[in-house]
Amino acid sequence: MSISRRTVLASGLALPLAAPLAACDRISAEPTPPNVPPLKSVAPCPFGAAIKAMQIDDPDWVALARANVSQLTPEWEMKMEYVLADGLDRPNFDRSDAIAAFAQANGMALHGHTLIWYSQGKEAFAGLSGAAFDRAFDGYIAALAGRYRGKVRSWDVVNEPILDDGSALRDCHWSARYGHDGYMLRAFEKARIADPDGVLFLNEYNQESVPAKGAQFLKLVERLLKAGCPLQGLGLQSHLWIDIPDGVIAAYMREIAQFGLPIHVSELDCTLRTENPLDLRSQADRLARQTARVTELAEAFTALPPAQRFAFTVWGLRDTDSWYRQGDKDDGRDKPLPFDSFGRPNPMAAALAEAFRA
Ligand code: G3I
Repeated sequence: MSISRRTVLASGLALPLAAPLAACDRISAEPTPPNVPPLKSVAPCPFGAAIKAMQIDDPDWVALARANVSQLTPEWEMKMEYVLADGLDRPNFDRSDAIAAFAQANGMALHGHTLIWYSQGKEAFAGLSGAAFDRAFDGYIAALAGRYRGKVRSWDVVNEPILDDGSALRDCHWSARYGHDGYMLRAFEKARIADPDGVLFLNEYNQESVPAKGAQFLKLVERLLKAGCPLQGLGLQSHLWIDIPDGVIAAYMREIAQFGLPIHVSELDCTLRTENPLDLRSQADRLARQTARVTELAEAFTALPPAQRFAFTVWGLRDTDSWYRQGDKDDGRDKPLPFDSFGRPNPMAAALAEAFRA
């Protein structure tokens, strides 16, 4: 009976051997960075990146952004966690104002992120009910969307309404008051009043990579549109991973395009890490698979009609800017973004440029 590789690995016998091999990856000479044109010059739409306010004071980040980016999305400082950190009656707009001013000064568009999200706001709204809750909900949207009217091109009005397995919509403090579709209908209606010119988006992750979640998203969009919701754009976050099967992303892009609405690839990154602690694949193998996934996404997006190519946004510029590389989650090796920590193009940047020009 042959002993499968999996059995050997599971025995732990191979693991000690694997460690020096993995270390070899780290020691092996870094491949020569590819020669890549500025991404905003080859993208078939505005090319965006997430921004944290502190990056405005980082000259290396600013130079990289000015060279490659024509749109910005505040990564966290335009969300309730920052705006309402001191309570509903003391909103903090200092950092979102700084980001808006930086965008304007650098001729970059601004995508507002995000007005209503299941995962934030529960503390600030705690203790409110009935008309007081309604006044706070409506007032928050009016204040934030109203403040940036004329400065933002678009908004993620509602973020991530669907359960990870795609089985249903999430329960949250917003749905508890208004119902699952109800809170989204209300949010979009209030956003429309506050900013009649902003393009209003529904934004979700893994819809492009988990078929059940994509199916639930498409059903939700159809229901909201039938209910007269001023939903004008669809955000595919595209937090990809290297083992998404070939063709899944492209197939979904064709499905979601059928609504005829503008599509925003809104938060692209692709971690090289997997859930399997015994995954011994080399960095080179992982980067090759990342290139395949990113190419599939960018080619499928580029194939959309121009009117549906709203923007293509990466969730950070340099690997070390990524949420994957913050704090104790950082393995020091993940390369989820287009540029390395020195601002040199990663294989992802080359893949994007190639796909955009296809
Ligand atoms: O910078 C402060 C630091 O000064 C402070 O000491 C520390 C502890 O409070 O917080 C730091 O801010 C953190 C910030 O990221 C910057 O790193 C916030 O706590 C933390 O909540 C925030 O996390 C963001 C997260 O959304 C929640 O807002 C991530 O950066 C951001 O990448 C992530 O982005 C989300 C999208 O909005 C929605 N789609 C998924 C995506 C990834 O989770």
